[in-house]
Amino acid sequence: MKTIIEPFKIKSVEPIRFTTKEERIKLLKKAGYNTFMLHADDVLIDLLTDSGTSAMSSMQWAGIMQGDEAYAGSKSFYRFEEVVKKITGLKYIIPTHQGRAAERILFSTIGGKGKFVPNNTHFDTTRANVEFTEAEAVDFLNEKGKHPEIRAPFKGNMDVKKLEHFIKEKGKENIPVCMITVTNNSGGGQPVSMQNIREVKEVLKKYDIPLFLDACRFAENAYFIKKREKGYHDKSLLEIAQEMFSYADGATMSAKKDGLANIGGFIAMNDDELAMKCRNLLIVTEGFPTYGGLAGRDLEAIAQGLEEVLDEHYLQYRIRSVEYLGEKLVAAGVPIIEPPGGHAIYIDAKRFLPNIPPEQFPGQSITCALYIEGGIRVVEIGSVMFGTYDKDGKLIPPPMELVRLAIPRRVYTQSHIDYVLEIILEVYRKRSALKGYRITYEAPMLRHFTAQFEEINHKKHEG
Ligand SMILES: Cc1ncc(COP(=O)(O)O)c(C=O)c1O
Repeated sequence: MKTIIEPFKIKSVEPIRFTTKEERIKLLKKAGYNTFMLHADDVLIDLLTDSGTSAMSSMQWAGIMQGDEAYAGSKSFYRFEEVVKKITGLKYIIPTHQGRAAERILFSTIGGKGKFVPNNTHFDTTRANVEFTEAEAVDFLNEKGKHPEIRAPFKGNMDVKKLEHFIKEKGKENIPVCMITVTNNSGGGQPVSMQNIREVKEVLKKYDIPLFLDACRFAENAYFIKKREKGYHDKSLLEIAQEMFSYADGATMSAKKDGLANIGGFIAMNDDELAMKCRNLLIVTEGFPTYGGLAGRDLEAIAQGLEEVLDEHYLQYRIRSVEYLGEKLVAAGVPIIEPPGGHAIYIDAKRFLPNIPPEQFPGQSITCALYIEGGIRVVEIGSVMFGTYDKDGKLIPPPMELVRLAIPRRVYTQSHIDYVLEIILEVYRKRSALKGYRITYEAPMLRHFTAQFEEINHKKHEG
């Protein structure tokens, strides 16, 4: 069969609200040109994130009713623990209310001044949690992963040589953990090959440094391995996921992604002492170790979601719908990170708007234009999110200026995707009229969530 269909039928629907372009121009201005500040009800198609935005299945909703809300030792915890252990093979499974809570607990326990944490690319919350302890977060993405136009199967891979060189330079005693983010969200949702995970593990083993997976999108990564890596075609997705985790000494997870749940996460590890320390911290800040800041019903929804996410029909539809959007954009000449990643399309804002320099935030300009043109909400992943300043207050831009269109899981149908395509092409057609932005307010950390902007050189938007 050539046509890949949504592998579900729809039982419950949620209306979306249409607004006019004039309304959206006013709403965006009121939001300080920051799409995080918009009311979700004013958004037609919400591609801000794939995190916590999944549509749950009837089985997950049924699980919600079965949630055991016992404070300690809830039945739902044991179901959750069993499913996570089946996939990861890790010894200690500690629930947390979301991914960043797992990160905070991990890095508060092993981070600190003078320490370094390597990763293929730290996600923003991961970086923030490492740096909050005054440790340094260092990225070792392979060279191909830094070039949006290069097509390669595993652009999320880590540069193993550079990693080893870094370990020798800084000393293994200063590197409490090495992370690999699968798939690599900040680098375009690109997958990491099994071979790369294995090679990283081999290097780390030499220096006795534990490997943790940032496993938010482990199932999508497993699907790419099955499709693209020799030797995995006939393996089940569960087997591939199990092999990925077999090289890890631990994992942090946001169940808001491949847990197909609206909230939740976990931290998992094999080390007895580390588990004890993490649990103790969890009790102070999140809750008892069998609920970790979640309700029993959330644990049920996550357990069920983790079973469903490894379904091959689901992942085929999921990855294909992202790829479909990517193919159409490329055919129309819109620059994106190629090949498309697992959960999102990343527009290459540098090539889309070559006339707007990083200090005028080209990605933010596209983000605003997509909302005004068609009520689509996306997010900038470039100088707004990752830019820093030198001592003279001059912007140090990150290597890439991207705009992410994250596709929520099981939420939108093909015609929604076709609408998104139409709007992007319209904005692309009008790109020479887009303006840069300047920041008028920014918080000291994770500024993109709350920053306020104004348009440079105010000019009326094209009608
Ligand atoms: C790769 C990665 N790590 C960590 C996180 C943090 O998870 P959460 O949003 O549940 O705190 C995210 C969230 O988007 C992510 O994409």
